[in-house]
Amino acid sequence: MAKADIFDHDIHTVDYRSEYEALRIDSGTLLGIEGRQVESLNGPYHFTVDPYETCLRAHWFQERTVSEDGRPLPVDFDFDAWPVVPVPSSWNTERDDLYYYEGLGLYARTFSYLPENEDERVFLHFEGSAYRTYVFLNGEHRGMHDGGSTPFSVEVTDALKRENRLIIAVDASRSPNRVPMDNTDWFNYGGIYRDVMLVRTPKNFIKSFQSQFVPGTLEKVFASLTMDAPIDGTAVYMIEELGVEQEIPIKQGKGYVTFPVDLVPWSPEKPKLYTVKVRYGEDQLIDSIGFRDIRVDGLKILLNNQEIFLKGVSVHEDHITLGKTTNEDVIRATIADLKEMHGNFLRLAHYPHTRLFARIADELGVLLWEEIPVYWAINFSNRETYADAENQLSELILRDYNRASVIIWSVGNENPDTDERLSFMTSLVQKARETDATRLVSAACMVNKTKLKLEDRLMHQLDIIGNNEYYGWYEPNFSDFLAILNNTDIMKPFIITEFGGGARAGYHGTKDTMWSEEFQEALYEKQFATLEKTPYVRGTTPWIFYDFRAVRRLNRYQEGFNRKGLIDSDRKRRKLAYYVTQRYYKNKM
Ligand code: GCU
Repeated sequence: MAKADIFDHDIHTVDYRSEYEALRIDSGTLLGIEGRQVESLNGPYHFTVDPYETCLRAHWFQERTVSEDGRPLPVDFDFDAWPVVPVPSSWNTERDDLYYYEGLGLYARTFSYLPENEDERVFLHFEGSAYRTYVFLNGEHRGMHDGGSTPFSVEVTDALKRENRLIIAVDASRSPNRVPMDNTDWFNYGGIYRDVMLVRTPKNFIKSFQSQFVPGTLEKVFASLTMDAPIDGTAVYMIEELGVEQEIPIKQGKGYVTFPVDLVPWSPEKPKLYTVKVRYGEDQLIDSIGFRDIRVDGLKILLNNQEIFLKGVSVHEDHITLGKTTNEDVIRATIADLKEMHGNFLRLAHYPHTRLFARIADELGVLLWEEIPVYWAINFSNRETYADAENQLSELILRDYNRASVIIWSVGNENPDTDERLSFMTSLVQKARETDATRLVSAACMVNKTKLKLEDRLMHQLDIIGNNEYYGWYEPNFSDFLAILNNTDIMKPFIITEFGGGARAGYHGTKDTMWSEEFQEALYEKQFATLEKTPYVRGTTPWIFYDFRAVRRLNRYQEGFNRKGLIDSDRKRRKLAYYVTQRYYKNKM
């Protein structure tokens, strides 16, 4: 670029993003990292906001500070002078000046690299970065990822040096064409809010492997394996505790075997996990897997052929001090709160939560509903929007396939029943089914309030019908709720995926005092009494476990929070409705 161009380029180029969008990172390069030795790239990163995206317009990531003839340039960037923020973190809760920031954020650090094996391959792997992430290594753009809640990996083998400069640009802006779109009822946290790591693999490696009971059996297991390249060979699958050592023939980079086993099935009561090792040449993945079979039979949900009722609650990935970042202590405390409420199920709304959640749920015996943020009025007629949604679903399934606790994939929440939406979400249901035959597929559908029926056309594509209803809160006539349940031709299991009402912890009144704990308590008592009259309801996940940030909730009782929680945002103060739920679940078989 001529010496003058370095400044003219960024002020005259309008379509500056297309060069980056040409190098998209998607589920196709996502690494299975279970049991791999990884090198953390967490820690302090120099950080600045860049609302005009000048880093992208003017190629700041190349860090050119002198012209071609050696003249110092009056550049505007200064990566190492910028203050640091910790990675992982949600920038909104790191600094007051960043609380509402939704633009581009720039991160920079250096790291050393020494090869360990001559033909090793090296990847940068991100567990979660919201929403669009541009990865630059040693002045080169290595790729761009869309999706704020799923992991992604990008190969950097050929770009590494002894000392490396990593610059990451993260765009947290909302857009009508994204997934979710620009209107949600949760806080738009931004940044690299989950782990970043370096992953080394042999020249040929196992990209992913899946293993579970063959659907419908408790005596036969399958192992499915995908290599990084279309090579032939033989992999070995081992469960030492069972004396299983099974060869998997690999053809064109794929392998699939089934074989009989005699093992203890995983269940919430007995969350038995087996250490499974899969080896190909020098490469090995290790995972802890619970073997279980989940299926529907008429109006029933069967886990290992036993009928279950899903005693659950919805939960956002939202923490008063950590934002969307979370950790093992928070997850274990959430599950402890659930078990104390005699619950066995969590709806992880409305997007994929951290991978750690399902790992701990496997260990502690909790069932999970996981969801992609196809939420409300997505741009259902936009091809790029569909590609984004489908990629997030693929990345979620690849990440959590071997998690016993995850029994349901949800393809969305409260979407209008239009032809475009039906086509969009039917394609997502089909994608989920062809990717994973070991789980049920659902979505949170809406009721037809005028006809008092649930007639969402997507229902016919689902294994389980999820239904959000707010009788006693947004809808006054509770009798309408029962009418809906009786009017709807229920032909499959039905979960009430949301009900509830707002209450400010510590605000008391009578059962008619809106926003009081007593009002919420009476609403829950009515809801559970109604559900008892409807035998085909096979689970509930009331909205919601903890109060959470929601910028559209601005009255004096909410003050920027959605207060439908059973527990305050401090995750300590339990409201009266928590105890109603605890009593109902304790006696519910
Ligand atoms: C909707 C939506 C939630 C929202 C809730 C509410 O059903 O799914 O995301 O927070 O209602 O109104 O509180």
